[in-house]
Amino acid sequence: MPFLVIIALITVTVTIILLLQTPARQRGTIRQLNVQLAEQTRTIADSEFRQGLLFSSNPCAMWIFDCHTLRFLEVNDAAVNTYGYSREEFMGMSVLDIRPEEGVPTFLEAVSERRGGHKHFGIWQHRRKDGSVFPAEVIAFEFHNDGHAERLILAIDVTERCRVEAALRESEASLKALVDNAPFGIQQSLIEENRIKTLNPALCKMLGDYSVEEALQLNIREQVYADPKERDRLIEVLRRGGTIHGWETTLRSRDGSSVPVRITGSLSGGENGPPEVFSAYVEDMTQHSALEQQVRQVQKLEAVGRLAGGMAHDFNNVLVVIKLSTELMLDQVTPESPFSKPLLQISTAADRAAALTRQMLAFGRQQMMQPRIINLNTVVSETTQMLRRIIGEDVQLVTNLSETIENSRLDPDQVAQVILNLAVNARDAMPQGGTLHIETTNANLDEAYTKDHPPVQPGRYVMLAVSDTGTGIDKSILPRIFDPFFTTKELGKGTGLGLSIVYGIVKQSGGYIRVYSEPGHGTTFKLYFPTTTASPTRLTFREVFVRPSGQTLLVVEDDANIRNNVCQCLQQLGYQASQAESGAAALRVCEELEGKIDLALIDLVMAGKRGNELATDLADLYPGMRVLFMSGYTEDSTARREILMRNSPFLQKPFSVADLAKAVQDALASNVMPN
Ligand SMILES: Nc1ncnc2c1ncn2[C@@H]1O[C@H](COP(=O)(O)OP(=O)(O)OP(=O)(O)O)[C@@H](O)[C@H]1O
Ligand SMILES: [Mg+2]
Repeated sequence: MPFLVIIALITVTVTIILLLQTPARQRGTIRQLNVQLAEQTRTIADSEFRQGLLFSSNPCAMWIFDCHTLRFLEVNDAAVNTYGYSREEFMGMSVLDIRPEEGVPTFLEAVSERRGGHKHFGIWQHRRKDGSVFPAEVIAFEFHNDGHAERLILAIDVTERCRVEAALRESEASLKALVDNAPFGIQQSLIEENRIKTLNPALCKMLGDYSVEEALQLNIREQVYADPKERDRLIEVLRRGGTIHGWETTLRSRDGSSVPVRITGSLSGGENGPPEVFSAYVEDMTQHSALEQQVRQVQKLEAVGRLAGGMAHDFNNVLVVIKLSTELMLDQVTPESPFSKPLLQISTAADRAAALTRQMLAFGRQQMMQPRIINLNTVVSETTQMLRRIIGEDVQLVTNLSETIENSRLDPDQVAQVILNLAVNARDAMPQGGTLHIETTNANLDEAYTKDHPPVQPGRYVMLAVSDTGTGIDKSILPRIFDPFFTTKELGKGTGLGLSIVYGIVKQSGGYIRVYSEPGHGTTFKLYFPTTTASPTRLTFREVFVRPSGQTLLVVEDDANIRNNVCQCLQQLGYQASQAESGAAALRVCEELEGKIDLALIDLVMAGKRGNELATDLADLYPGMRVLFMSGYTEDSTARREILMRNSPFLQKPFSVADLAKAVQDALASNVMPN
């Protein structure tokens, strides 16, 4: 090795000069020095040999090049093996030849920094003889030989290490992306310091859109937990068991509102080791809680509805008797009679009782709806006249009805009741006056909307919005306003049924209702009803009752009082009326009369054969016979649906003599057969 030879030569020369300058009496010492010199020379030779061995048999590629010409001066066997050039080829090459062209400028720049000593030269792209390129980690040692700057290079192929490092970087990046994009909060917090150590964007958002820097400053106990003691309890449980699973608690959002969450996580460190760290996943349960509340609400209403429905059935039957009997008696007395006034009072009371039953059934969603194709604007326009009277002079009524509104299949009376109930509430919320705004428009609820508003189904709807500029509804009572009997009004001013009726009607119509309210600024109720492409059918009601010409009617009803009452009324109206107490009896009567019955008036709810089953049998046996159903209430939703689908005429109990007369007449005039 030239530089080792240089060092050895310098040492020998220095020793000889020293010997020549030494006096005779010191010759003994010189001999001694000679021995030492011989040893040193041997040592140098040994060292040179070892170092030569280190170079030539090193498993890593090594070479020496001239810093000026950049030519290879020496290469070891490993370099020959690694790069694929023979030693002779190397000797005719420069170090620029073992790197891709694009790497040359950077290399030239680096090599121009001439500093002596060891230098970690970093990782470079090198090229083999076969053209393949690989990453090489290079360590350089610069020295001077005969006035020339030279470099000893050690190059290690780090392809595998780079691959592993890249894979590791990639894995870390995808893990980070997973945490950053996770739909639930992820965090690590220092228990003793009471601070968050690290957290993901979802948790920042959940806590009220803090920046990461702000979140890291939070005092967890006081600023993150709604109840600081809840955190103490959580730590206690963690220290006892090490983990928690689905711990339900409430966090405090930046604006002070509550965020119900479920936490799952574990504790590490502690007991004089590294600091205690709590690693956890935080699930936002806000939507879940809202859904739960909605389900509870629906269940509650359904329970009350079933109860109301059960009562309504019997109640309506009683009312039919009261109503028809009173009217029959009224027919017999002159207006001057002392019975006239009390009879009228009974009749009015029965009407009020009937209205009450209707309301009970409406919020229980059990009412027999009589929907038809309507245009929402028509109902609103027909209602506004009455609304103006109800809301009074201090409240201004503004309507904004979209001209292109689509049709929907609704019971117009029920929609009118919905508008009325909402308007009355609005009026009550504006004791000092204000504006009642009624708006209709088409609404296309897409999947993006319905995902955020379960259980709304995507589709086309007509929207009815009723807004006021009143007191608004406090956040704390908002979840309860649709509850039956929930009212904030003083005794006698409100029953708390208004909104539950609205809710019932909207649900029964296949629609949805949403409330937006800001205390002090007013409230908006938005009602969505499904649309239809069908057009309104013109119902022709005969204004004048035409005296019947001997048609025969059959009244099928299991309640004897009603049966007799109805028959009596029909006879007074001029019809022939037969009666039957059950489906089987009805079939017998028909047989006896050889099917000469024009219309069967059938109660829907009877013991034995159900009303709609009887209608089907009659249709098979006597195709010309018409059917008119009557019912106060039926729990049997299949029967209700069947009737609606058949479009069969239907008479809601309780009814007046006029209602009965009109329904019978219409049914006889209709072309609709029972099947
Ligand atoms: N537009 C509104 N502005 C402010 N509060 C309202 C509004 N609508 C309803 N509320 C609140 O909701 C409660 C329930 O309303 P709901 O119509 O069911 O019953 P009510 O009006 O109290 O009684 P009822 O309608 O049976 O006479 C009301 O007592 C009121 O507190
Ligand atoms: Mg009300």
